[in-house]
Amino acid sequence: MSGQAAKNQSAISVTNAKAQAHVALTERYRGPSTEPVGWNETLSVLLAHRSVRAFLPRKVEPWILEAAIAAAQSASSSLNLQLWSVIAVQDPERKARLCLGVADQRWIREAPLYLIWAADLSRHARIAERASVGDDLLDPDNLDPLATSLVDVSLAAQNAAVAFESLGLGFCYIGAVRLYQQELRDELALPSHVVPIFGMCVGYPDPDRPTGVKPRLPQAAVLHRERYDATAEAGYIDRYDAHMYAFQGEQKIQQVIWSEYSLRRLFNLHASEGREAYNAALRDLNLAR
Ligand SMILES: Cc1cc2nc3c(=O)[nH]c(=O)nc-3n(C[C@H](O)[C@H](O)[C@H](O)COP(=O)(O)O)c2cc1C
Repeated sequence: MSGQAAKNQSAISVTNAKAQAHVALTERYRGPSTEPVGWNETLSVLLAHRSVRAFLPRKVEPWILEAAIAAAQSASSSLNLQLWSVIAVQDPERKARLCLGVADQRWIREAPLYLIWAADLSRHARIAERASVGDDLLDPDNLDPLATSLVDVSLAAQNAAVAFESLGLGFCYIGAVRLYQQELRDELALPSHVVPIFGMCVGYPDPDRPTGVKPRLPQAAVLHRERYDATAEAGYIDRYDAHMYAFQGEQKIQQVIWSEYSLRRLFNLHASEGREAYNAALRDLNLAR
């Protein structure tokens, strides 16, 4: 390629990158944002994220699962302890049983692959047993192992999620699994100190049932420069309520005021029926007595 041709090529790709950035940022924030100076394909994949709840009946190829798990294992891990495991469920009957266990969400049944992501301290319990150092290695009153395993499993799962999206697949997290600890324990043969934190249905999105990019809070509501500053927050929340209301209208789903709805949902987290089983399971991560 001549020098001039190379120059033209890079001018085109800069223009394309800027256009891609503009579309992605406008969709995410629903409004003008500062012109980005740089952009790349990774950012395009990340910003195009939307939860997918309608899948084609097409299997996920084994290499894709393995690549996604390699991505998951490439995430940072506190002290490199790697305190997580994932159970891949593809058997339709088992998937259906797991679906019934979690308030029947159709997309779990439809997705060809259902991943159960678990915080896992059992591996270290076995290491301790093999080393004959006893099973009171951890202090059940110290929340650190619990927090560490929750962070580890979340970072790993999100890396896998981005890997799936980069390959043209879609996914949806399933948080309800936390309330069905006993059902999952039985169905998946989980030992103690393994606690399912969320599920993830994975598959090829059905193009006939598309989902839009859900707007997020204005960046200034979450990015605090140097010191925390919530003085302009009320305006950001009002603006976001309006964006979410418009989004729900476009998606033809029930329209609610985000700030009111999210308060109710947060309260439900405190009041949910399955919380005792979940609390007990989380205590198990500290190798509680
Ligand atoms: C931990 C976690 C649990 C979730 N659980 C569910 C769920 O049980 N069912 C569901 O349909 N979506 C679930 N979601 C997806 C969220 O509703 C979704 O990420 C959020 O509304 C933002 O939409 P978006 O992912 O399309 O941007 C969950 C997401 C997370 C992070």
